[in-house]
Amino acid sequence: MRALFSLTLHALLITLPLFAVATAAATPEVFAIGTRSFALNFEVGTDGRLYQHALGTDGDRSKPSRNDEAYPPAGDGYIYEPALRVVHADGNTSTDLLYTGITRTNEAAGRELVRIGLRDPAYPFEVALCFRTHRDDDVVEQWSEIRHSEPGSVQLERMASASMLLPPTNVTLTHFSGDWADEMNPVSELITPGTKVLDSKIGVRAHQFGNPSFILSLDGPATENSGRVLAGSLAWSGSFQCAFDHIGSRVRVLTGVNPYASTYHLKPAETFTTPTMIWAWSNNGLGGMSRKLHAWARDFGCRDGHQPREVMLNNWEATGFDFDFERIANLFEPAKQIGTELFLLDDGWFGNKFPRVNDGAGLGDWQPNRRRLPNGLAPLAAAAVKHGLRFGIWIEPEMVNPKSELFEQHPDWVIRQPLRELELQRQQLTLDLTRPEVQDFEWQVIDGALGVPGVSYGKWDCNRYLTQPGSSWLAADRQSHLWIDYVHALYALMDKTARAYPKTELMLCSGGGGRVDYGALKYFHEFWPSDNTDPVRRVRMQWDYSYFFPGMTLASHVTHAGNRPLHFACSVAMSARFGMDLDLAKLSAQDKAVCAGAISAYQRIREVTHLGELFRLERPHDAARGALDFVSPDQARAVVFVFQLKDGDAAVVRPQGLAPAMRYTVRELNPAPHRAALPQEGQSFTGEALMRDGIVPSCQKSLEACVIELAR
Ligand code: DGJ
Repeated sequence: MRALFSLTLHALLITLPLFAVATAAATPEVFAIGTRSFALNFEVGTDGRLYQHALGTDGDRSKPSRNDEAYPPAGDGYIYEPALRVVHADGNTSTDLLYTGITRTNEAAGRELVRIGLRDPAYPFEVALCFRTHRDDDVVEQWSEIRHSEPGSVQLERMASASMLLPPTNVTLTHFSGDWADEMNPVSELITPGTKVLDSKIGVRAHQFGNPSFILSLDGPATENSGRVLAGSLAWSGSFQCAFDHIGSRVRVLTGVNPYASTYHLKPAETFTTPTMIWAWSNNGLGGMSRKLHAWARDFGCRDGHQPREVMLNNWEATGFDFDFERIANLFEPAKQIGTELFLLDDGWFGNKFPRVNDGAGLGDWQPNRRRLPNGLAPLAAAAVKHGLRFGIWIEPEMVNPKSELFEQHPDWVIRQPLRELELQRQQLTLDLTRPEVQDFEWQVIDGALGVPGVSYGKWDCNRYLTQPGSSWLAADRQSHLWIDYVHALYALMDKTARAYPKTELMLCSGGGGRVDYGALKYFHEFWPSDNTDPVRRVRMQWDYSYFFPGMTLASHVTHAGNRPLHFACSVAMSARFGMDLDLAKLSAQDKAVCAGAISAYQRIREVTHLGELFRLERPHDAARGALDFVSPDQARAVVFVFQLKDGDAAVVRPQGLAPAMRYTVRELNPAPHRAALPQEGQSFTGEALMRDGIVPSCQKSLEACVIELAR
């Protein structure tokens, strides 16, 4: 107690001038952080604290109460779910934060960095609330930076990236959950009193059961073209928490790393930077929200976001682990013939003492298997390149099978709990990335694969989550750092990879959609949304991912999953980043022609689907069909997709986003064999007429699809 008292006195002396400045503020300081149509309104109270006016209550200037603190710390008066909970170096579990000032830095035209300073009047402890505003995209990135100079570490028990206040009534939350091969199922619900928590406590492959992206709608359930909506997406690949705390008079949204078992000991002079929360606002419904978020993502959320993606052939769904040099090399000629541009060799190319012939062995031993690839990867890559194909390679650098030379040599490198029986998932364990030797090892794996001459694509997979979160590298009293330090080390590795291989295209994969977030995606070009490639399921899933992620980042491969007609499967895949997972040697001539037609159609439209704006037209959930269109930035071209999920009546589909006065010629791309042509095939109409009267698609029966180009 004596220690606590003397430290407090000491801290008071240090911070007294600041404290004096804060309390001297006579008239409240009011300011806003905003974009073209979005504003976060703040007010510094007469008590020196920072308050936020609930979103959408712009006219309401009533005096803020303690419930309205912008970033409420625990332990000194605030009684609800806090944004910050700290145990100070002297053991004091309370924090108070007073406003110290705001700085605004113009980073580029329409882009501003705003930092709001907060400081504890009794401790040398500060928080900077940081915002990067993207004016034209109506996107705000938000994070917090926490620092102190107390005479010892402080414990961060809760450290939100963002805290956001909403009005208490009529706010609908849409969130997305699922499991392996069944990702992104939407649920919409009214936020009612109490705390609703969306979270993950599994650290790695952290989004297997739920994505850290959600939509808040302020005017009743969201629609595509009307209503005020706010998308939130946490850029964090580890355990996360998004809490919606309805406290009667307000809804407070808190997002960030999951505080569960994650106490973080912050040393003096170190800065803890939280993950970034990405917000996208629209006054005009979900469509506007996604288009803005996609525009931001092309610039900041993924790599090479202005470069349309090439057509890939992947062998996983076709061969699984069963291949050798000949079988793969024999795919190159037919792949090239149908127009494929890139080949990706998936799992199974490595391991000698423990060959990787199934998922039970070899993971961790990244030497090419001598029986399958006697001369290594380079000759296979060279053979692909000789056929005019780019070549890519699969890796899973974070994982190890117990049946591997790596595990024999370094059993202490895995994440596990002492005295507990090892718990395997997919017969594998996670390497402890907080350990420097593991960081070096994983870099060697990545560099070894991507550095093979001829390799210009990599797929980074990750097939298990943490169930026994123990590290033999971290000290006994720092085990709680594992969740956060793992992700930081992972990002360091991803960053190093992107820098070392600036021209290599990268896919983010985690047994499907187990790691889909902008924290990781910024180092990648695309993500693998799901191992469920049944196009019927993909129509809905791609729709739901498209709220947050642009189609160019969403890998969509044609497979035989669900045994659907190939024309339907190709049409669905073509609406995102197109790829194939087919054994071309086994395709009939007619199916090959359908694929070739789809590839050439995709190559014709990818500038529009990847760089243009998305309009979701008809929601496929519980409906007979789904429809969407993409419009090029200059509005001179558009592509309409109609996916028939049940028998229907060929009702007109009404495109959106066209220039009303422009004339467009209607043309179906890659029409299905034996189906009547579009009634409007080859005819020209104004954009206004097309948007008003619609187009009669050529599909009507279940599992038919129609892709229509509208060109000036
Ligand atoms: C899981 C991925 O999602 C699949 O696409 C495939 O790469 C397998 N892993 C390989 O083990």
